[in-house]
Amino acid sequence: MPEDAPGTVRVRTDDLDVIHGELLGIGVRLVRWHAARRLPADADDATVMKAYESHIDHLRAEGGHRIVDVVRLTPPRAGTGRGRRTGPAREDFLREHVHDDDLVRFVVAGTGCFSLHVAGQVYAVLCTAGDLLSVPGRTPHWFDAGARPNCTAIRFLQRADGGAVRLLPDGIASRFPTHDDLLASPGG
Ligand SMILES: [Fe+2]
Repeated sequence: MPEDAPGTVRVRTDDLDVIHGELLGIGVRLVRWHAARRLPADADDATVMKAYESHIDHLRAEGGHRIVDVVRLTPPRAGTGRGRRTGPAREDFLREHVHDDDLVRFVVAGTGCFSLHVAGQVYAVLCTAGDLLSVPGRTPHWFDAGARPNCTAIRFLQRADGGAVRLLPDGIASRFPTHDDLLASPGG
């Protein structure tokens, strides 16, 4: 979508070749990983990490990630507005920001939408289980997993704190389709 015309979708596709081409043009990599064994829905962190161990080791050696951990976003509990303790609040991610660290996330289960703001365009990348997304550091972006999030992901961090986060002032994210908009709209 053009940054000044959120309603104008230039390309919308689930064709991986087209997606790869679009993303490679902005230096972003999307790769599919397959688990070494079938993961139960209630798999704990150690089981999740074990299932993707060879992929993780390879990527870690390549990227020099100091921290690799599992993040779970769950629906807010009644009255608290926040999901499980391991998952930050939705609005924490919904503002456009940059950080020095590369954005490297592998979606283990559920869905999450990474919106990348590059060269006058917004690329909404709706990731599902098996998607590894690698975005160069300092790329303006935001993230959304919806009002009732269900997203388990492995984070790869080069710095212990993930690099200092700098919020961008424009507020562009609020003008673009959310995770739930994209899933609900035709073709989604
Ligand atoms: Fe981020």
